[in-house]
Amino acid sequence: MANIFDLGPDFYSVPGEWNHDGRPYGKYVRQDIVEHPEIAKIRSDDCFVVTYPKSGTTWTLEIAHLVMNGGDTSISASTPHVIKTPFMEFKLDGITSLKEASYDGLSIMNKLKPPRLVKSHLPVDLLPQDIYKKGCKIIFVTRNPKDAVVSYYHFYKSISDAFGDYSGDFHDFLKLFMNGKVHYGDWFRYTLDWWKYIQNKTNILCLKYEDMKQDPRGATVKIADFLGYTLDDVTIDKITDQCSSKTMKKNKQVEKEMVRKAIVGDWKNHFTVAENEAFEQIYNEKMEGSGLVFEW
Ligand code: A3P
Repeated sequence: MANIFDLGPDFYSVPGEWNHDGRPYGKYVRQDIVEHPEIAKIRSDDCFVVTYPKSGTTWTLEIAHLVMNGGDTSISASTPHVIKTPFMEFKLDGITSLKEASYDGLSIMNKLKPPRLVKSHLPVDLLPQDIYKKGCKIIFVTRNPKDAVVSYYHFYKSISDAFGDYSGDFHDFLKLFMNGKVHYGDWFRYTLDWWKYIQNKTNILCLKYEDMKQDPRGATVKIADFLGYTLDDVTIDKITDQCSSKTMKKNKQVEKEMVRKAIVGDWKNHFTVAENEAFEQIYNEKMEGSGLVFEW
């Protein structure tokens, strides 16, 4: 690792954070699910949207949920995003942005009628094995890590319920990210493990945030095809419009922190030239031969 990303001894860790297999998790991640994933009861008709944080999870869930409801926007307008598409391993008391006093993704998931659409950031080896054994559909969304770290930085700054009072600047945060010291750990490890797993699997759709931005309608079509829904052009257009960042930003059922700039390339406003060079070097070493290519 180039010196520029070396962490001093006093780097930031969120109060209540804990570790599993070399990765930090927030206090909001249920340790029992990470250690005993089998406690989540999986149905073969469940669909999971799996991502490293800040890769376009909320957006993809919104598209998939509307697809599964034939473009009917009434649930989107009336039900909090995290209730209609639960975040499996997330549990937190006293979330200020939700009306509920506490949130427990797994218990919400248990109450949902099938087919269920579920969010998780867990690494491939920690998701309940029944997801794979039962052939559940999985949408894996990935995003260029320079934009992901920028997005994650702003997220850390904006949600003290989950991340404490992070007072570092972006450059400090980039060091944490490059050392796998942010929640859910090292981006490279997470992404490469998933990427290896998804090869030649017909029950997994891989989407890239940048492609979705480039062709949002195409993303809706891909998700509909993958989930097995035949929708007419008007419905596809309606879903695509409904899921634009502009419209999602106005939806009171989507937590306001989940939609920020929603662009490709915001990293250019954050990285120094030296950070970019050091990042590229590490990126090229780690991703070499993977076949995974991003737009920046
Ligand atoms: P930025 O912080 O770069 O703006 P996640 O849902 O995985 O946490 O990802 C959040 C990122 O997706 C944020 O990126 C957010 O703005 C972006 N995003 C959310 N809704 C979006 C939408 N409808 N279209 C495009 N990007 C969206």
